[in-house]
Amino acid sequence: MVKPEMKIIGINASPKREKSQTRRLVMAALEGARQSGADTTFIDICSLDIHYCTACGTCYAKGECIHDDDFPALLEKILDADGIVLGSPNYINAVTAQMKTMLDRMADVVHCQTLSGKYGCAVCTAGGAYADEVADYMNMTLLNFGATTVGKTAVLVGADPYAIVGGEKVAKDLGRKLADAIMTKWVDPVQEEHHNERKEYFKRMVLFNKDLWTHEYDHWKNLGEL
Ligand SMILES: Cc1cc2nc3c(=O)[nH]c(=O)nc-3n(C[C@H](O)[C@H](O)[C@H](O)COP(=O)(O)O)c2cc1C
Repeated sequence: MVKPEMKIIGINASPKREKSQTRRLVMAALEGARQSGADTTFIDICSLDIHYCTACGTCYAKGECIHDDDFPALLEKILDADGIVLGSPNYINAVTAQMKTMLDRMADVVHCQTLSGKYGCAVCTAGGAYADEVADYMNMTLLNFGATTVGKTAVLVGADPYAIVGGEKVAKDLGRKLADAIMTKWVDPVQEEHHNERKEYFKRMVLFNKDLWTHEYDHWKNLGEL
């Protein structure tokens, strides 16, 4: 029997390209995922042209964006994946502007809970603090998009040049865990309850705005949810 294909995408949001420590964690997670049978793709979002969200609401109404840039192709790749690894360094106790710019373009994904059924995890490096919190933010965001999260790797690299090596081992395990969750269709009752609550909330909100947000109304209607 041919095993179903499992696709995992890793996204790094450090502008340091090949010199990025966070990239090492994303790569390690993807390596672990490959060892568990996943096909993996790596994306450096700093090499992409992604414009700011202008809050025009066109995605709510039409399911498409006014910007002509690299985001739609990136979103297609995210939607084609079963698992997503988000990576960002800590910049002033938050994700980088590049990561936030990508996430802001995904408001329609939140309203439609488009990442439902997918799995994700987060990796972060920081000089001295808040790597855990920044990774938690990325996982919370994946959860908010409808995905189920399997964990994080957070490494403080500032005072220990070898910390990243240990971090890579942890990230590799995280990648394996992500692939296993996809394969076994792992269910976490706590996240499931959150998803159910959010789904009901967004259905109500979209129904309330159905004349304006026609694409989102059609989305939920076509799923038989409205
Ligand atoms: C603009 C900027 C802001 C930063 N802010 C923080 C911070 O608030 N706390 C911290 O511990 N490290 C901070 N750092 C350090 C980075 O998080 C750290 O060097 C990280 O490992 C960089 O990841 P990268 O190599 O993947 O780019 C900052 C670095 C830059 C360039």
